[in-house]
Amino acid sequence: MQTLFRLGAAAALSILAACQGPAVPHSLASTSDENCLKCHRDTGSAPATTHPKKKGCIDCHKAP
Ligand code: HEC
Ligand code: HEC
Repeated sequence: MQTLFRLGAAAALSILAACQGPAVPHSLASTSDENCLKCHRDTGSAPATTHPKKKGCIDCHKAP
């Protein structure tokens, strides 16, 4: 029982922590996901994101 409770608490914490990505360190022509992915896919010019399927990049990555 207690083990189950700990697992639940850890899952809730990791969901909260997942909402704080590093801030965007550059200026942006557009804040749309499509624009971000032009550069941040593995074929782009920027460091590739590990999570190209997540929606709402700037919900987690504060725009400058
Ligand atoms: C024109 C290409 C381009 C676009 C569009 C772009 N980026 Fe970037 N991004 C880069 C480059 C190049 C770097 C690495 C160099 C730097 O720090 O400026 C970078 C760095 C980053 C980093 C830091 C990565 C790290 O390892 O710390 C984040 C986070 C990021 N971008 C998020 C975004 C988001 C979110 C968007 C869309 C709102 C976006 N970028 C759009 C080119 C782009
Ligand atoms: C739910 C929150 C969330 C969303 C949405 C999100 N990110 Fe992230 N991102 C993170 C976190 C947290 C990190 C820190 C590294 C990690 O844990 O993967 C990160 C790291 C990054 C990095 C640094 C390289 C890497 O993958 O570690 C880039 C680039 C990036 N994100 C781009 C994007 C782009 C582009 C989008 C939209 C398609 C996006 N992120 C959507 C939370 C998010």
